[in-house]
Formats: sequence, structure tokens, C-alpha cells
Amino acid sequence: MMKPCTIFSLCVFLLVTTNLVAQNPKLTLDLTKPGVTVSQQLYGLMTEEINHAYDGGLYGELIRNRVFKDNPNTPEAWSLVQEGEGKPSIQLVAPDPDKVAMDQRGHAINSSLTTCLKLVVETDGGRAGIANEGYWGIPVTPNTTYKASFYIKGLGSAPPRRRPDGAASTTPVIENNTAGPITVTIESNDGKTVYATGVITLAKSNFWKKYELQLTTASDIKPTADARFVISTNRKGVYYFNLVSLFPPTYNNRANGNRIDIMKLMADMKPAFLRFPGGNFLEGPKLNDAFPWKTTLGPLENRPGHKGSWGYRATDGMGLLEFLEWCEDLKMEPLLAVYAGYSLDGDHVDAGPLLKPYIEDALNEIEYVTGDIHTYWGAKRAADGHPAPFKLQYVEIGNEDGFDGSGSYDGRFAQFNDAIKAKYPALKCIATIGGKDFLGTRGKLTIRKPEIVDEHYYRNAWEMEEDAAHYDNYDRKGYKVFVGEWATREGAPTTNLNAALGDAAWMTGMERNSDLVILSCYAPLFVNVNTATATAPKAWQWDSDLIGYNALTSFGSPSYHVQKLFSNYIGNKVVPLTGINIPTQTRPATKRDSAANKMPPPIPGMFYVATKDTKTGKIFLKVVNATGKPQQVDIELNGVVKLSAEGTLIVIKGDKPEDTNTIDNPDKIVPVSSVVKGLSKKFTRTFDPYSVSVLQMNTVK
Ligand code: AHR
Repeated sequence: MMKPCTIFSLCVFLLVTTNLVAQNPKLTLDLTKPGVTVSQQLYGLMTEEINHAYDGGLYGELIRNRVFKDNPNTPEAWSLVQEGEGKPSIQLVAPDPDKVAMDQRGHAINSSLTTCLKLVVETDGGRAGIANEGYWGIPVTPNTTYKASFYIKGLGSAPPRRRPDGAASTTPVIENNTAGPITVTIESNDGKTVYATGVITLAKSNFWKKYELQLTTASDIKPTADARFVISTNRKGVYYFNLVSLFPPTYNNRANGNRIDIMKLMADMKPAFLRFPGGNFLEGPKLNDAFPWKTTLGPLENRPGHKGSWGYRATDGMGLLEFLEWCEDLKMEPLLAVYAGYSLDGDHVDAGPLLKPYIEDALNEIEYVTGDIHTYWGAKRAADGHPAPFKLQYVEIGNEDGFDGSGSYDGRFAQFNDAIKAKYPALKCIATIGGKDFLGTRGKLTIRKPEIVDEHYYRNAWEMEEDAAHYDNYDRKGYKVFVGEWATREGAPTTNLNAALGDAAWMTGMERNSDLVILSCYAPLFVNVNTATATAPKAWQWDSDLIGYNALTSFGSPSYHVQKLFSNYIGNKVVPLTGINIPTQTRPATKRDSAANKMPPPIPGMFYVATKDTKTGKIFLKVVNATGKPQQVDIELNGVVKLSAEGTLIVIKGDKPEDTNTIDNPDKIVPVSSVVKGLSKKFTRTFDPYSVSVLQMNTVK
């Protein structure tokens, strides 16, 4: 039998050890010392045409393949409408320099609109037309007015056609009967339900003419994307179509503008800047495929579109001015990336005379953005409808040029930097050599030391959490850091809660070090979440994106909500903060651990940062609990004169790390706000498992 004193000693021992093990984590905010200044541009957006970000995404256009250039072999996204008699057929008509067929001449509208769609209707009666399936459907919503426009010509008194070899054409000559009404509809894919309809009167002419009309849906329809856009006739003849366009209402009612729902999601993030146009989209696969900013300007008639970098053609409806107006609409500053003579296939232009045209091009582009109306390109911008110049502070030289194994970026960066600084001394040039994960040491610059370096990090949640203190001991004497692309890549097509936890951990580190990290933006921003259909491929190329959508609706991923939270609740000074008894977690062993025959080291399970708004006296304490356990945390504020007992707590959390939002269940993980009481200079709060929290406290003067 155990002696009572032994039992007592055991109890004391257990009590002490349990206490030791279970000691609360403690966060001490030191408000006596001024912390570093928080960059007011810390959180921005990064964008490029990937995952149907613009075409089939933000850009309002609903017609896919509107200028018929997506595929030279077939009118992709277009189909024939045939009801009853008519014997119609459709065919792409494009100038073919090898064949120079007689009947293919003269159908180009200009040098940009060179390919058109021909509809041949052999007999009167019935319904014949062309249908567009949109970007994974045409969105139909009640009480909505759409703006439709298209170029059309009917075959007038056509001369008898001849084949190139001089023989008579075998194509039957169709008597011209095309003038008259042409019907335009938004209708269900089976053609049985018409949601909106209108008519134009086609003139009796052999020449192209643009027709415009509005289509309005009724108030009693159910939203659907199971719809198509149709232009149809009941008269025989030959009809040609080009630049077919359909726009829903747009944000701020801009012509050629953006989708309202996605703009609102971004507006809620309060982003400080927009990095554009890429990303890989800036560079293009080959030297000639770079973002062609000049042919993205002016009327859509002058925009041929270009190859793009992600396996599909870009319409360039989202052109340079549209990027700038997007900035204007969301009160962001543009952060312009200029092409620096290095393409995705690894080809480059050496520094020196050969690079001069590229530099000239970049200087012109900057003039388009910032020049007044007396400059050549400033006047062009004014002619395009925007006389006021845009504010620009940062120009990025290329994208991920650290990948250029030839080492040519050293010279290219110096040449770009010097030319830009000579003309625009106030501009800051960003070098694209950074990102320790994948650029190694290849990107060292020796000729010109960059002021700012763009670093990219794509990782899993363990890696983000393990490296959350990445910038704590970074060299402060060198360049400033722009984390121009980064993401915790877990979940597809949008990220899950675990990714959001990794993101939040990483963001505490960026925010704490925002004297050094002056700019950051998550990537990719957008994803069209449609999977492949019989007629259209899967819409996305890159897993783990921030904002998802289909033709009809959009949603924010858990990572989106974390971005919004961090950007909305931030002060102008970092509050020095120390943490003790921070719980740890053990990550799975990596290949590196196994190679070194080591157990993975424990990594923190909680992450935190605090900032203060010196004008309002608000303190924002951000706490990430990446563990699966509630964490009771003692919080102490040193140096606060008086703290209001009431504050606000905003929490993003889930039951398990895999929890996520989807197009059908968009609000599973969303921030929840509540009033908290009992705040004082010392208090205890429990942070939920798998959660990101902001505790907003108010100091009283
Ligand atoms: O964000 C996706 C791609 O990742 C970007 O286009 C490129 O810059 C990076 O490699």
C-alpha cells in the first residue's frame, strides 16, 4: 500500500508537471517601443490571363471566339442552328496566303479582323443561324439588359465565282435575298426557351456593317448558364459575321468593362496596387509572343488578340487601358511589368543595340500610362478616352527573368533601368531575379543593384508555416522586397482552409517585416472553375487559386478571406510582439530530411503579428492557430494608457484543414465577426482550432 506522503508527493509532482506542460502560450505586445512602419502598399493584386482570368472571367464579354481566330481549323464555340428547311452550313473564312481562293478575298474588315464566319442558307423557310456557347455557357439573369453587337454582310449581287485555276466555281450561286430582319436571341441550349430577343434589319449591301441592339430578360426567369446566343434568319443567302459581342451590365457601367460580382470581391479586399500583365502572360512562349500592349488599345476592331501563354488565345479585350481603368475603379495603383526580352522558351535578346527596340517599347508604354496629353502616347491615351495620366511608381523589368540561365538579365536589367531612370527619375525599377525557392543564385545582379526585387514563393502549408519567419533576419541594407507571386498551393481549383492557414502564417511574417517587404500579391488571382465539356476544355491550368467563378456566380476561397482580413485590419506601425510557450507541430519528413537521416524538426503551430493605427488608436492582433486544438492564450499589453474593455474579433475557421468553399457551397468558410468584452492590459483568449483571428482592440486617449 502506498504511503499518504507518497501519494501527496505524486500529486504535487503531477500538478507541477501538468502545469509545466500546459502553460498557456503568452503574447506580449510592447507598445512602449515604436515598431517599424507598415508599408501602405503591402497588400495588392497580381493578375494575368491564366485560368480564363479575363476571357471567360473578369472581362465582361460573353461571346467566346468573337473574332473567329481561336482555332484556324474550326469555328470553336460556334455551331449551326437549323430548324426546318434551309439546308444551312457554316464555315470559317480566312485569308489563306497559299491558296488565295477567290471567294475568300475581300472578307477581311481590316488587318485585325481577318477571319470571319460564313453562313450559307440554301432555301427559304425554317430557321438558320449561328449559335455561340459562350465561356461555359451564356449567363442569364432576370431583368438584365445585354448589349449585343456584330458585323454582318449579306451577299449582294455577287459576280460569278471562279476557282483559282480559272474554272467555274462548283458552289451553287445563291440569289441574293439577305436584306431584311435578322433575329438575335439569348435562348436555352435546346432552343426551346427564349430569354431575350431582338431584331436588326440587314441592309442590302455587299459591305460590312456593324449592328447594335439591346436584349432584355424578363423578371420571372431563373438564373441559368445553360444558354446560348443566336443570330438567325429565315431567308436563303450567304451571310458573313465578324466581331460578335455580347456584354452584360458592367462594373461602373464601363463600356467594354468588367463583371460586377468579381469586381466587388476585389473591392472588398481593398488592394493597394495591381501587378499586370503577368506573370508568364507578359512574356509569351516565344520572343514574338509577349503581351502586345499596342494592339490592345483603341476600338475592339483594332485588336486581333494574341497567342497568350496558357494554351488559349487572348482576345486582348482586357487591354492596357482596361487594366488601368480597373485600377482606377478599385483605387489601386498600377504596377506595370514591361517585357524585357526574355521568353518562356528560354530565348533572350542580349543587352546592347538589339535590346534597344524593346526598351523603346517599354518607354512608350510608360508614356501611355503616365504622359500628359502633349506627349505622343499620352495623346493616344486621351484619344482612347482617358486624358488624365495615371499615377505610376513601380515598373517591373520582365517576369521571373532569374530563370534566364544565360545570365543575360544582368545586362538587360541595367539597360532597362538606366533608360527608364533617365526619362522617369522618380520611377522605381523592380528586378525579377528573386525567390530563393526556385531561382537559386542564378539571378545575381552585379551591373546595377536593384532597389526592389520581386520574389516568388509557391509552397505547401507546412513549408509556409515552417518558413513564416523568413524575413525576420533578412538583410536590411540591400534591396526592398516585392513578394510579387506567392501562394500556399493546397486545394483545387481554389484553395482550402489548410492553404489559408499557411497563407496567414506567411502573411504574419510579411506584415511584421513590412519595412522590408513593401509590396506583396498572391497568385493566381482568378480561376474559372468549369471542368471539360463535350465542346470546351477544362477552364483552368493552375490549381489553388484565390477567386473562383463560372459564367453565373463567383466566390472567395478561404485564402481570399484571409487576404481580405489581413488587408482590411492593419495599422501603420508594427507593434513589437513576443510569444512564449508557443505550441509546436511536427511536419512530415521531407526528402531532404530523409537524405540527411534526420527527424523533421518541430515547427510553430501558432503565428502572430500586431499593428497599431496611430491615428485611431486601434490595435490589430492577428493570431493563426494552425493546430487542431483550441489554444488558450494569455495576452499582455505593455505601455497602453487605457484600453476599451470592448473589442471586435473576426475569425475564419473550419472543422478540418481540407474544408473549403466551392461554386455550389461558396460560404462554408467565411469570416465571422463578434463583439468581445473583458479586454484589459492582461487577459486570456481562446483561439479556435484551425483558425485565423484578428482581435481589434481600441485604446482610449
Ligand atoms: O502564377 C502562375 C505562374 O507562376 C506565373 O505566370 C509565373 O510568373 C509563375 O511561374
